[in-house]
Amino acid sequence: MVSSDTQRPAAITIEGASKLFLDGAVVAFHDLSLSIAAQEILCIVGPSGCGKTTLLRCIAGLADLSAGRLLVHGRPVAGPPEGVAMVFQHFGLLPWKTVWDNAAFGLAMNNAPAATIKERVSHYLALAGLAGFEKHYPYQLSGGMQQRVGLVRALAMNPSVMLMDEPFAALDAQTREVLQEELLGLMQRPSERKAVVFITHSIDEAILLGDRVAVMTARPGRIKEILEMPWGWPRDVNVVRADPRFAELRAHIWDGLRPARLDASSAFAAAGD
Ligand SMILES: Nc1ncnc2c1ncn2[C@@H]1O[C@H](COP(=O)(O)OP(=O)(O)O)[C@@H](O)[C@H]1O
Ligand SMILES: [Mg+2]
Repeated sequence: MVSSDTQRPAAITIEGASKLFLDGAVVAFHDLSLSIAAQEILCIVGPSGCGKTTLLRCIAGLADLSAGRLLVHGRPVAGPPEGVAMVFQHFGLLPWKTVWDNAAFGLAMNNAPAATIKERVSHYLALAGLAGFEKHYPYQLSGGMQQRVGLVRALAMNPSVMLMDEPFAALDAQTREVLQEELLGLMQRPSERKAVVFITHSIDEAILLGDRVAVMTARPGRIKEILEMPWGWPRDVNVVRADPRFAELRAHIWDGLRPARLDASSAFAAAGD
């Protein structure tokens, strides 16, 4: 199915993975298999509660699978794997730390040398348009700027895998589009390409950013379908949006999510009776 990507080594391999909570009363995801190639951007869309965040937490080594296999760079995950960085929906900044210290946090946690921290953090802060804001605190920044700090913190670690959990969901629509374009701009540089697992509620965002888009079912989450996006790199969002295939893909993915939406609306109707 994924002709180009099967040539590349897998960054992440997930086989028959399940995650249960509360002694099995909640099955977050069940028998889920997925492979993410090195330097591939895989976007995942799926209904709320289908286990997307839990899946990312398992890949990040912050939670264990209940069953199945999970490999990062061919090694089973037991604790946070090397080379994996995470970007959170609510930015995950420490409010008492400055922009600089927040951006340096991941590297500092990894005991990176001071010179490396200085070089990488100033490089990515400048790229993110945050030069001059080093001494500011998160509350002094807009949401878009805060999430740029979250991105800088992850990128400065020079990860081979980036896990992004609805990173732009808390931003207004315009800022979101700007950050999408910035992320695309960054990912166009071959030296900056990483394996990215990008979770989003926005079908448009998934199509614009993904090499592939995985559609999940409602809980217990499974991979319902994986679609390969027909655009390569460099990728221009305006060209993609104007392409008739964009609308076709969007309609197709909406359709794939439809049963979940109907379930949700009928539950809502029942609750309203
Ligand atoms: N620590 C936990 N304890 C119990 N249930 C949890 C825990 N974390 C997540 N869940 C449940 O697992 C399901 C999947 O959650 P989550 O991964 O956050 O979904 P998503 O990110 O797709 O919205 C939800 O029903 C959620 O309530
Ligand atoms: Mg989530």
